Amino acid sequence: MKHETVLVLDFGGQYNQLIARRVRECGVYCEVKPWTAPLTELKALEPMGIIFTGGPNSVYLPDAPQVDPAIFTWGVPILGICYGCQLMAHSLGGQVVPAQADTAREYGKTETCYDPACKLFSGLPERGISWMSHGDYMAKVPQGFALTAWTDMCPNAAIADEARGFYGVQYHPEVAHTDHGVDMIRNFLYQVCHAKGDWTMEDYCKTAIAALREKVGDGKVLLALSGGVDSSVAAALLAEAVGSQLTCVFVDHGLMRLNEGDEVEQAFSKWDLNFVRVDAETRFLLKLAGVDEPERKRKIIGEEFIRVFEEEAKKIGAVDYLAQGTIYPDVIESGAGEAATIKSHHNVGGLPDYVDFKEILEPLRMLFKDEVRQLGRELGLPEYLVSRQPFPGPGLAIRIIGDVTKEKADALRLADAIFREEIARAGEDRNLNQYFAVLTNTRSVGVMGDGRTYDYTLALRAVTTADFMTADWARIPYEVLDRISVRIVNEVAGVNRIVYDITSKPPATIEWE
Ligand code: XMP
Repeated sequence: MKHETVLVLDFGGQYNQLIARRVRECGVYCEVKPWTAPLTELKALEPMGIIFTGGPNSVYLPDAPQVDPAIFTWGVPILGICYGCQLMAHSLGGQVVPAQADTAREYGKTETCYDPACKLFSGLPERGISWMSHGDYMAKVPQGFALTAWTDMCPNAAIADEARGFYGVQYHPEVAHTDHGVDMIRNFLYQVCHAKGDWTMEDYCKTAIAALREKVGDGKVLLALSGGVDSSVAAALLAEAVGSQLTCVFVDHGLMRLNEGDEVEQAFSKWDLNFVRVDAETRFLLKLAGVDEPERKRKIIGEEFIRVFEEEAKKIGAVDYLAQGTIYPDVIESGAGEAATIKSHHNVGGLPDYVDFKEILEPLRMLFKDEVRQLGRELGLPEYLVSRQPFPGPGLAIRIIGDVTKEKADALRLADAIFREEIARAGEDRNLNQYFAVLTNTRSVGVMGDGRTYDYTLALRAVTTADFMTADWARIPYEVLDRISVRIVNEVAGVNRIVYDITSKPPATIEWE
């Protein structure tokens, strides 16, 4: 079955993925395409509407991104956001100019009035805050367009040509700071594009299982299961689709969190698949012995992981498909769209050319992270796996400052488990995006009972973040921090001092190494 589809045409703005997520949250499937995609490619997707995103350029400059003018005679409704709005105005005979600092240049939360007669604002309050971020200004709107929203500074915060289904907003309805922004997007989808809303995870799950069965036939599938959300959900989907034709290889490098291996194995025990758990702690620790440089640790673990996986794959023999948990933001960021590039050190391994297989399967490549979690729930994976915080591929190795030993890994594992347990007990886990313990290589003097100690300092790190590119340190209540500190010092041998990291990113990073 073909889903109703909306296209998000990407002009390089910072919120572009957010727009696509909002559309899907409203129950309509959408895809992000770069502004350079030819019109024939866009038409092939048969979209019911198009959203032009924001972007960093000025539309009147010679090299600014443009669109094929034929997009405006195609008959498909268009919503232009920020740059997208200016582009529409510019392309249809309006005039966009640099805003003077004291006139229509706006940044931040702005009191805005809306015309309730406009379909975009139908049923919504006539006043509210909108999030502005633009340095250009529409001096003249194109013929056929009416002004449908305004602010003190700007008489044309939104424009509409309802006859042609063209809408433009200067502000960003996709960000949470805009009151009823999502409702405006919903109005565009349901009132303007006449969507019915056929995008649900339950439905997607059924369709994806059927498609995988058809594609795989009686072939064999191999998947490297890390225990993270993406590879776990990919594994569950494949397990549901092709069961015993799937082999999951879970490499335990000995630098996992407490009981992680058992939990993952347990979560998959309900499926009839081949679960290979490799206990490789000793060989990883041998390779890491004496290494204290973070990038060397990463490289050693990445390479050793490939060696272990390769050996297991050889035992299994030739497979038809190698499955990966690639998700949509990876697809967009790796070149399909205009958004920023990702850090290379976050991709462990790269394309595996060391396993004999015919084709790569990426069953999650069209899903956003929150959709992947929903799909995991749909497939019956336990909540602790589905809502799991990110955990780096090199694991505890990059949370032990200096050289890695089994004793240090065991101590850190226990401290980290206590930290997570107390955070969950206090209900703070809902407020945090990532939190973990770091074993520093600083030792200091302490006193326990009547004796002097000279033990390690352990750091607690907890952040709130939307995208992990920037992050703020979390304001965990003192009494919760106190409980954690008392418990760790009492229960973890070799640790006598606890510190809490109060640096944001930037200038720090989330991990310490
Ligand atoms: P930083 O420390 O760069 O971390 O602020 C941002 C996010 O990336 C994760 N991270 C990694 N993930 N391999 C991974 O798979 C790595 O080497 C790695 N280093 C950092 C980090 O946990 C955070 O979520």
